[in-house]
Amino acid sequence: MIEARNITRTYRSRGSFGGDRTVRALRGVDFTLPKGGAVSFIGESGCGKTTLGKILTGLETFDGGELVIDGVELSGLSQRRRAPYFRRIQMIHQDPYSALNPTRTVAQTLGDPLRMRAGETGRDGGSAAVRARAAELLQLVGLDPGGVLPKYPHQLSGGQRQRVVIARALTVDPEVLIADEAVSMIDVSMRLGILSLLRDLRADLGISLLFITHDVATARYVGEGGELHVIYRGEVVERGATDSVVQAPVHPYTQCLLSAIPVLRGLELPGPERLVPLAALDERTEPPGCLFAPRCPFADDACTAARPTLGRTSGVEQEHACVHPTPRRVVAVELSERV
Ligand SMILES: Nc1ncnc2c1ncn2[C@@H]1O[C@H](COP(=O)(O)OP(=O)(O)OP(=O)(O)O)[C@@H](O)[C@H]1O
Ligand SMILES: [Mg+2]
Repeated sequence: MIEARNITRTYRSRGSFGGDRTVRALRGVDFTLPKGGAVSFIGESGCGKTTLGKILTGLETFDGGELVIDGVELSGLSQRRRAPYFRRIQMIHQDPYSALNPTRTVAQTLGDPLRMRAGETGRDGGSAAVRARAAELLQLVGLDPGGVLPKYPHQLSGGQRQRVVIARALTVDPEVLIADEAVSMIDVSMRLGILSLLRDLRADLGISLLFITHDVATARYVGEGGELHVIYRGEVVERGATDSVVQAPVHPYTQCLLSAIPVLRGLELPGPERLVPLAALDERTEPPGCLFAPRCPFADDACTAARPTLGRTSGVEQEHACVHPTPRRVVAVELSERV
């Protein structure tokens, strides 16, 4: 469904005190999202996750690489001819408050795109048919149509709002949903419900899911049977079947991410190493070798000699970009109540 090859995106901006700032938000990201499949991207703040989601929905441009959607490579197409491909991919953002127009009821929010879609597909676009389809979609996302259709966003809970956002995404019959931290701003008690809705949409409607998170437990829950890609400063440093990456991560960055989760036990990292907060890093410094080496508890001279690229070593199922891949077993990664 989506094939991304070597996607790069570099932002250049002028700093407030003069001097140009260059951020390499994505440094050659490759992945394939099959029909009905799931790929999760995990990494800490600023690693490029949202940039990737925006590129895949046409909200952001990329400056290198190729993006193939349904077998069509998009860079050769005009903006207008790309639009229908991007429409098949809908993004759910983290903030359902700002995603909905406060002056429009749920009926209006769903009605407009449903009428447009009816025009495109030759379906009945009359008000009764549109209302029936809106009710059907609300039921699908676990809301009571009668109660919710006349309401404005401020009359709904955060969880209900996010369900409305998902229903709106479904109005255009998408083939892919991109969920970008879709539950991080939702009350804890409602998160699991939204996550299982995303899971069900994949299982029941065959919608592919690109799941963006900084929380491995949710990635594992929603993206069951799919792939997990661990991204650090715009570069994928470990990727493979979600379960093998979670159960036997070999890249120290993945291990640090996993060890930061309180529900994990049994990840034996020696000493007091923890990730240095990203804010403490100077983004302008580009280490000659491994990007993670300055923060890595296991780095040595070999790590700064050359930048490792993704590859496989014997005995390790997933791909990794580490000079010293060392499996460290994770005993339990369960969806905790904190999710
Ligand atoms: N429009 C922009 N102009 C300049 N820099 C940008 C722009 N958008 C993103 N960046 C930078 O690109 C990098 C990646 O940003 P992005 O929003 O993709 O990260 P993220 O992984 O989604 O982070 P978070 O977990 O905080 O949402 C960051 O360093 C960010 O500051
Ligand atoms: Mg983001």
